Amino acid sequence: MTVDLSWALWRAGYRALPEERSAHAGAPAYPSRLVGRRAVVVRGRDGTRLFYDPTVIQRRGAIPPPLADLLFGRGAVHGLDDEAHAERKAMFLQVLAAERVEPLALAIGTDLQRRARSWRGRDVQLHSELVEVYGAAVLAWAGIDCTGAQARRTSHHLAHIVDGFGGAGAAYPRGWAARIRADRWARRLVQSVRDGQRRPPPGSPLELIATGPGRDLDARTAGVELLNLLRPTVAVAWPATFAALALAQHEQWRPLLRGDDASARRTAFGHEVRRTCPFVPALAGTARSTAEIHGERVEPGDLVVLDVPGTNHDAQAWTEPDEFLPERFADVEPDPYEFVPQGGGDPRTGHRCPGEPLTVRMLAETLRVLAEVDYAVVSSPSYDATRIPTLPARGLMVRVAP
Ligand code: HEM
Repeated sequence: MTVDLSWALWRAGYRALPEERSAHAGAPAYPSRLVGRRAVVVRGRDGTRLFYDPTVIQRRGAIPPPLADLLFGRGAVHGLDDEAHAERKAMFLQVLAAERVEPLALAIGTDLQRRARSWRGRDVQLHSELVEVYGAAVLAWAGIDCTGAQARRTSHHLAHIVDGFGGAGAAYPRGWAARIRADRWARRLVQSVRDGQRRPPPGSPLELIATGPGRDLDARTAGVELLNLLRPTVAVAWPATFAALALAQHEQWRPLLRGDDASARRTAFGHEVRRTCPFVPALAGTARSTAEIHGERVEPGDLVVLDVPGTNHDAQAWTEPDEFLPERFADVEPDPYEFVPQGGGDPRTGHRCPGEPLTVRMLAETLRVLAEVDYAVVSSPSYDATRIPTLPARGLMVRVAP
């Protein structure tokens, strides 16, 4: 009997899909079960194309509420389809346009550089440092007046939501406590702007969501979407911690990532970190029409699961898929159906992450700073592959030279 994938993910974490894949002799599509429903697991270019075909796949109700409502919030863009999705997505694309996010990426670089000076001669937990720097920067960028200890606390609450999404032990209830508190806080922020008690800078994300393109959303949903800008920006601390580890493990890259003329190499290094580090295990949708993929039938009502790491490591698309080779991204734009760490396809028409360009710039800025910091990893470089999400042990402790 097939073990339910939700159970396998909870028990075996990032090992669940590779184990299931080998039980099906590495087939690019195979039948499974998810939360008691028939599912078809797909990967690779064809699988991604199917998954991002809106005539075949819809999102409503595909992700169980205990996960979706914790990570994304109730009523979030992630679970919308068709017109409703297009309209909500347009708001995110406007807020996250390149010219808007560039100042945020630059602020993160400057703040991190300042913070790194305070690390000299100390051991620091890199993940926590990154959560605080990213959190404070995104709060300020969003137009939320929250600084110092309050910003630090808020950043860690947002990180708790991310840490809880895989249902790991105490992290799950802690994530929910943080979600409930954050939803209330964000709803009040939106309401206070609408009531005229708070005046965020014109054009700031808070203003746009409260009274701009988000003005027709009820305050609770608008708050949920505000958090869908703040929380994932803090979540970049997960791949960024793996980036710091990769830099320590591939010392030859350190000089190559320094200086103003290294921005393409920093981007390539960041792409390779996103391709290889464990973070998003899978994506799920519901079939709304019949389809066939690699001989596997998909019937309306079936769940379709995109194996994200399996696609990012698909031997059909990647040479030496298990090697860490940033140079594979030199002078090439990643293919939107083969490289899917933040979803695939076109973000303007589908569900692909609208925050991907920001993520890319944040990782590049982080690498620019870290390449200048003389640090050695003093914790174990291993991570718990059975826990979702995971991090290098102890959040990566580094000893920084005086
Ligand atoms: C660690 C970095 C990040 C990762 C790994 C990540 C990953 C993802 C993935 C896998 C999806 C779902 C794609 C799909 O359902 O097809 C997604 C959607 C989304 N992400 Fe990100 N993301 C990251 C950073 C960000 C950032 C920085 C923002 C905004 C500031 C953001 C905002 C969103 C939103 C609003 C959606 C929903 C899009 C939709 O349903 O149309 N993400 N992200």
